[in-house]
Amino acid sequence: MTSAGMQPTALNRTTHPTVAIIGATGAVGQEFLRVLDQRHFPLGGLKLLASARSAGKTVEFQGKSIVIDELTEQSFEGIDIALFSAGGSISKKYAQAAIDAGAVVVDNSSGFRMTDGVPLVVPEVNPEAITTANIGLGQGQRPGIIANPNCSTIIMLLAVTPIHRAVGVKRVVVSTYQAASGAGAAAMAELEQQTREVLEGKEPTCTIFPQQYAFNLFSHNSPMKPNGYNEEELKMVHETHKIWSQAGDKKTAITATCVRVPIMRAHAESINLTLDKPMTEVDARKLLAEAPGVSLIDDRENNRFPTPLDASHADDVFVGRIRHDLSQPEGMGLDLFVCGDQVRKGAALNAVQIAELLLA
Ligand code: A2P
Repeated sequence: MTSAGMQPTALNRTTHPTVAIIGATGAVGQEFLRVLDQRHFPLGGLKLLASARSAGKTVEFQGKSIVIDELTEQSFEGIDIALFSAGGSISKKYAQAAIDAGAVVVDNSSGFRMTDGVPLVVPEVNPEAITTANIGLGQGQRPGIIANPNCSTIIMLLAVTPIHRAVGVKRVVVSTYQAASGAGAAAMAELEQQTREVLEGKEPTCTIFPQQYAFNLFSHNSPMKPNGYNEEELKMVHETHKIWSQAGDKKTAITATCVRVPIMRAHAESINLTLDKPMTEVDARKLLAEAPGVSLIDDRENNRFPTPLDASHADDVFVGRIRHDLSQPEGMGLDLFVCGDQVRKGAALNAVQIAELLLA
């Protein structure tokens, strides 16, 4: 219970919430555990949920063995915050049961991101989107859903929002180099297995992706739309519009090309910007050096710029190759290269930061 005299929080019930992780055996679910532990999240209790396949297995957390339960509609009694990361269809099926039981849902899937009234939040970008009154699909101060954006969107916005706020971004052209983790733990295992098979001269086993992944790359595996964009590309466009519009923004022109590369867990992005007002590369570098959640690796002399391995297991998004785009008038265009851990800032860390905002 919130003590008398304290400001009510968005949770309005407790300062030590009981948290459920839905999809606890997955790549993001496992990262939730690490992030909750490393950030000393004030847990009142922890419940781990996954499919019937995992029920009864145990997971070690802070020196204790926690048994995984099968997810059902009855799983949410006593839960204050439900961290969902078991895919959009599971979120759609079970989020309402969590809300009805009194939990706030922080949803890592795409299930509710574009639903009207559901805040889509990157804590460094639009924390103001969460207030006690507007947690989506709840009413007034009742629990509801807060959506975690797509990983590529989060990573891009950490780097681009400070520039947008300073001088306005008129147009974004982004190309991604996306890791296996975005397709889940099984895709990471497939990359490892295929790499071994190819090195041993064997035929690679293609189960998760239809094409060879090791020593290859291909257009993102999300469904292709009639206009030639895949869903991942459109998520980057529409989610950015929603997140920036929450701060009263006009629509920036955005186009994206998303590619899956044989990297384990950090995405890279090449980002080209057209600006409303001029910004020098010196000013951009200074601005990004001070931006929350951003670190610079921008050493031209030694040709040392961000890599997915720099970003792996790190909280920050790394930015480099900050330069004036020669094809645009002086100061009106910038190029950036960005790397961020897909499992961490692209998913689990961002969601736990949202949960922390609920306690603030
Ligand atoms: P399980 O391991 O029992 O299949 P990833 O994104 O890494 O592939 O992880 C997906 C997560 O979603 C896993 O924890 C997986 O649990 C969970 N999951 C998949 N299907 C269901 C389901 N029907 N009910 C509950 N959890 C599910």
